[in-house]
Amino acid sequence: MSETKRKIVVTSALPYANGDIHIGHLVEYLQTDFWVRFQKMRGNECLYICADDTHGTPIMVRSRNEGITPEELIARSYTQHVKDFDDFQVKFDHYGSTNCDENRVLSEQIFKAMEVSGAITARIQPQLFCKKDQMFLPDRFVKGVCPKCAAENQYGDSCDVCGETYAAEELKDASCTLCGSKPITRDSEHLYFELEPSRDFLKEWIPTHTAPEMANKLLEWFDEPLRGWCISRDEPYFGFEIPGHPGKFFYVWVDAPIGYMGSLTEWCAETGESFDDWWQNKDAELYHFIGKDIVRFHSLFWPAMLKTAGFKTPDQVFVHGFLTVNGEKMSKSKGTFIKARTYLDHLEAQDLRFYYACKLNSTPDDMDLNMDDFIGRVNSDLVGKITNLVSRGAQMLHKRLDGDCGTMDEEGCKLCEEARSRSDKIAKHYEDRDFNKAMVEVRELADLANQYFDTAAPWKSIKSDPEVARSVMTSILNLFRILAIYLQPVLPEYSAKVAQLFNEEPYAWSDIEKKIESVPINKYAYLAQRVEVDAVTKMVEESRNSFAAPPAEAVAPEIEPVKETIDFETFSKMDLRVATVISAEAVEKADKLLRVMLDIGDGKPRQVFAGIKKYYDPEKLVGRQVVMVANLAPRKMRFGLSEGMIVAAGNPDGDLFVVSPDTGAIPGAGVK
Ligand code: 2FM
Ligand code: ZN
Repeated sequence: MSETKRKIVVTSALPYANGDIHIGHLVEYLQTDFWVRFQKMRGNECLYICADDTHGTPIMVRSRNEGITPEELIARSYTQHVKDFDDFQVKFDHYGSTNCDENRVLSEQIFKAMEVSGAITARIQPQLFCKKDQMFLPDRFVKGVCPKCAAENQYGDSCDVCGETYAAEELKDASCTLCGSKPITRDSEHLYFELEPSRDFLKEWIPTHTAPEMANKLLEWFDEPLRGWCISRDEPYFGFEIPGHPGKFFYVWVDAPIGYMGSLTEWCAETGESFDDWWQNKDAELYHFIGKDIVRFHSLFWPAMLKTAGFKTPDQVFVHGFLTVNGEKMSKSKGTFIKARTYLDHLEAQDLRFYYACKLNSTPDDMDLNMDDFIGRVNSDLVGKITNLVSRGAQMLHKRLDGDCGTMDEEGCKLCEEARSRSDKIAKHYEDRDFNKAMVEVRELADLANQYFDTAAPWKSIKSDPEVARSVMTSILNLFRILAIYLQPVLPEYSAKVAQLFNEEPYAWSDIEKKIESVPINKYAYLAQRVEVDAVTKMVEESRNSFAAPPAEAVAPEIEPVKETIDFETFSKMDLRVATVISAEAVEKADKLLRVMLDIGDGKPRQVFAGIKKYYDPEKLVGRQVVMVANLAPRKMRFGLSEGMIVAAGNPDGDLFVVSPDTGAIPGAGVK
């Protein structure tokens, strides 16, 4: 163990405030949590900093659709995210929000420094604008025909069919995904962060600060001049306005990573610590855990921004792969797109923590959650191999030997020494983020402990030689305790209960040196239980159902607001009468119209043109009673005079339903 205490700031990517946390996200938050907890156990000062990523178009549009403010939306997500993380035992030192004053101030400061350095340029560019929604359309809000392969229904940035990337304006037959209308092209001035001035710095920084596979990809771009990065967005935009550029907002990817600093600033304010001591201190370390999809932002733009603005750059960007479930991409229809909350409603958080630890390594390779393997690992390893040691040992000690530990036998001492001798190796695996290797060591030690337990068979000797049995159980408990210490970064609540069993506080790594001998232990409290196949099946089913499209009638239509009130006198001017349809026929050359002859019992048939061709077979209308507005001033139409109107109910989508009185009403009856 290193002598000097390290000072480390660790972050996970900030989750978007417009979505739920799911098991794919957890690959990152759990591994970061394992690593931070490990550092703390080693006696290092390590902070886990995170926040909700709150800005951008999707959040603005979603809140608009829900009829709430973006602030209300992000407050709701914040509460849910914090609860999900808490229930998964992910422990942040600070969890903030990018929509805070500290972040605004830092974003402005960094931008101004970038401007002063000459790295910000302005360029005019044409952009798609939706007149109906009154907004410039981000790439993902435009769909149309791919300019290269003519595939339909492609987004404004790239084609899913041929892989071509293009500007949204190049799409053919583009339409706004919000309202379906055809966007126009409008010029807009945008701000760019030029990367060329950072070329030399980045070329040196990238290979030494991120995974080699990632670095190689990024460095391919260095064969040509580096393209500037557009960092502004037009209003309306939920975010921070750019100082000195009214109506322009920081693109969400500008203030999101600055959110790491904003959240750390909040933590400093709460604890009285200094930001510079943690971020700007050359002896402090800074690590970002991220997924491989956002490497460009963290290993290109972000270090360039920090460097240009005079801040310390990250010591390392740790990149992980995506989660697959049962060998495939997470799928909503297959029920494998599982929200954190859905998981928690059916299964124990610690089971997923344990399983992920068994699978995670330091590479950006994808990681598979295989449901059968998951059940097997938890049941055979966590419960069968590891937890059974203590549940059998401690319960027997209590039932038969008053719960008092004795001293370990020789074999037990040897095994504990073996377990301690692996401390450096296991610590290195944790440090290197090869959590799977750390778990292999723990499982191997558990195997040794089980072999010893089975050979010594204290349940046989307990009657004839209780002290021998006590000695074996003491050895088993000591061995198990060391395993619980090694497992604490992964299973913190589990290990805290183990500490309580031995009347101890949550463990430091160095606690492996201690022996538990000749002392009473507390009663065994439940630590882990088997996963039932049924619980997994139910979780998958519930996930599938939660994404299934609601039946059509359940979709709430948008109901038109009620019109301005009228007085009774105005109302009573309208003469509504029951009428019988005498004849009805389609009007040629008119898509929508039927010519309908109505009888209101006064011997004067009236002709009405009604826009119901799409909905009614004219023959079937004949003989039917309807309600007509009898005193509507006649209107001259292309096809003849319309002498009134048929009353029909109109759904919000435009469908029409003719209104009829109940049987008994005679033609000419006034409708009141
Ligand atoms: O990809 C995402 O989910 C982003 N919200 C991550 C932001 S990480 C950081 F830069 F803030
Ligand atoms: Zn639109």
